[in-house]
Amino acid sequence: MAVHKIKPNIHSLGAIDWDRRLFDELIPLPQGTSYNAYLLKGSQKTALIDTVDPPKESELVDNLKKLRVDRIDYIVSNHAEQDHSGTIPKILEMYPDAKVVTNPKCKTMLMEMLLIHGDKFITIKDGDTISLGDKTLEFIIAPWVHWPETMITFLKEDRVLFPCDLFGSHLATSNPFLQDECEVYEPAKRYYAEIMMPFRTSIKKHLEKIKELDIEMIAPSHGPIYKNPNFIVDAYTDWVSDEVKNEVIIPFVSMHGSTHRMVDYLVDALIEKGITVKPFNLTETDIGELAVALVDAASIVIGSPTVLVGPHPSAVYAAFLANALRPKLRFASLIGSYGWGGRMVEIITGMLSNLKVEIIEPVIIKGYPKEGDFLSLNRLADDFLKKHKELGIVDNQN
Ligand code: FEO
Repeated sequence: MAVHKIKPNIHSLGAIDWDRRLFDELIPLPQGTSYNAYLLKGSQKTALIDTVDPPKESELVDNLKKLRVDRIDYIVSNHAEQDHSGTIPKILEMYPDAKVVTNPKCKTMLMEMLLIHGDKFITIKDGDTISLGDKTLEFIIAPWVHWPETMITFLKEDRVLFPCDLFGSHLATSNPFLQDECEVYEPAKRYYAEIMMPFRTSIKKHLEKIKELDIEMIAPSHGPIYKNPNFIVDAYTDWVSDEVKNEVIIPFVSMHGSTHRMVDYLVDALIEKGITVKPFNLTETDIGELAVALVDAASIVIGSPTVLVGPHPSAVYAAFLANALRPKLRFASLIGSYGWGGRMVEIITGMLSNLKVEIIEPVIIKGYPKEGDFLSLNRLADDFLKKHKELGIVDNQN
């Protein structure tokens, strides 16, 4: 990443990862990502906010050289995950007088994961401030976005919020500032779905605190900087709310076409009732798209054939993922086909214990669907319509 001045004496100098396509060996990154670090030069002290993923260390080092930074007093670590903290040891090597400023929990994690010595730290607590002279850093402890040690830094005079992962997006762009809100909405929602959604309740509380601040700019540690903070704060407010939409998400897998035929039939039946349907063929789909769909939906139906007396492993993966991501789903069901029996329903429903869902009677059939089976799928579609109507999320004409 080139060095960008984002405000007087504030530079963005992290790294863009154009080619990265997988994070945590799990999360697809179709548009790459960035690891944003920020250099704040006060009249007396200089602070670096977060660093970069270790494979990108040389870019951060080069950018510091480009800016001729001969002194760093504070390295603020908002989050111990290595994509932001992993280059702290290198920065400490380059600037041996620098201190790592963070909260006690993050300090412990950085000592354990990066082997940074305890005497390199200054620990702060919620509401503490550090002066750089004409600039003041205020620290807001904000646990569980998405690790237990996370915090946010607010640069008071310039009104810039540095929330690290919160409000971020996995989006590699050459311009440090958001150019087009439509371009970032989906990547930011995908980021929320994959990383933040399991911590919706904590984030809701942090949002209330953030809304009390007079913020001019939000500078996250992934993706573009927001000059219009309300855009992303409002989007998060919507995503973390308890409101669900009149949508049924159908992750499914089919081996010989029977389950696929059931899915196709159910999709049509739901559409005819005015319900938005999003089917995801698990053999083809990008799991990030499935995660995004789970952010707002009222209901999920998992479709699976029986394999070795249980659900297909791809359906197990989808159930595990949905359960781990803890979306605000209200209803769940299962459809599928078997050859000679199995325990698919108990296994899948038993995997959804994190979700506060009511299980709607599944439709599990023998072999290829027949007339009576289609009637059962009509019944399932009717059940979803009835339940969604009870929630008040269905248009009156349906
Ligand atoms: Fe971008 Fe949780 O690290």
